[in-house]
Amino acid sequence: QFHPEVSHTRFGKQMLKNFLFQVAGLKRAWNLGRFIDEKIAEIKTMAKEGNVICGISGGVDSATAATIVSRAVGRRLHLIFVDNGLLRAGEVAEVKRFFHRGYNFHFVDARRIFLKRLKGVVDPEKKRKIIGRTFIEVFEKEAGRIRDVRYLVQGTLYPDVIESGHGIGPASVIKSHHNVGGLPEEMGLRLIEPLRLLFKDEVRRIAKRLGLPAAIVNRKPFPGPGLAVRIIGAVDENRLETLRRADAILIEEAKQFPIYRKLWQIFPVLLPVSSVGVMGDKRSYGETIVIRAVVSEDGMTADWARLPYDLLERVARRITNEIEGIVRVVFDLTSKPPATIEWE
Ligand code: XMP
Repeated sequence: QFHPEVSHTRFGKQMLKNFLFQVAGLKRAWNLGRFIDEKIAEIKTMAKEGNVICGISGGVDSATAATIVSRAVGRRLHLIFVDNGLLRAGEVAEVKRFFHRGYNFHFVDARRIFLKRLKGVVDPEKKRKIIGRTFIEVFEKEAGRIRDVRYLVQGTLYPDVIESGHGIGPASVIKSHHNVGGLPEEMGLRLIEPLRLLFKDEVRRIAKRLGLPAAIVNRKPFPGPGLAVRIIGAVDENRLETLRRADAILIEEAKQFPIYRKLWQIFPVLLPVSSVGVMGDKRSYGETIVIRAVVSEDGMTADWARLPYDLLERVARRITNEIEGIVRVVFDLTSKPPATIEWE
């Protein structure tokens, strides 16, 4: 019941240090600089022949994993990027721009099929399952076009390894989507997971060493099921557009404040809760946007972020002024636990 490794535990790190270096007599041999070279050498030995595929999302994990693997296998690496229609404003263009040159880059526009299957679905678990299954289907089809594929790269991190070990709670669902489900077995692929022993801050350090652009190195985590788990209730193009606009406003404003860099994540959630507002001298009726912002070391526990009132005020004003159909903006004050970071 005692967790010295959790950031909330006072002197937890000191206890671990004392145990490891004084009681157990271990030496510090973990060196991130060597890590890259060792991984490249390891992958070279492991994947001597055949092609390697890697799904990328625009996030730091998959980009870092892909870069390490590409240094080991060169053009035998094929990147697959699926646009599921659930991404944020400008995201698709950004990913395309970065990976277009120097890589075998496969772009799949699958927006229609995802939105069709999500139509009218409100249950969070069902949404996640539909998105996970559809992703695998689309990914598999694209991978099937590449000949002699033998390996699959995944940006699995150590917290994923720990969480999936327990197999309970939302974590096990995260894995079933994030890890491309049963794909390796079905296609007879071997897994390459270069980041399996790393935490997020270490991945960012590696990404920087690899020369990835700051926009990718510092990118905040974004869930595989995308905006669908931030739209409570049914997902459709209109509500996606509303949330995208709210997200763009929130991020644009948050970036002006120094606290932005310290946040693990900051994002809006769209609630299907209507309430009364006033527009000019008329009453109006509209939905609600929640602002969610947390600080965290690894996403396993999190504290709600003490955002400056000025920031909250600006965001609330702009969202209600600029986005039709939103009359109310509220701020989420819960930490994890008991709440999860995402709303679904
Ligand atoms: P929760 O909501 O479980 O989220 O507290 C912890 C962290 O994981 C991210 N998350 C996901 N990432 N696929 C992902 O790749 C998923 O299905 C998924 N669900 C949650 C979440 O954004 C947070 O950083």
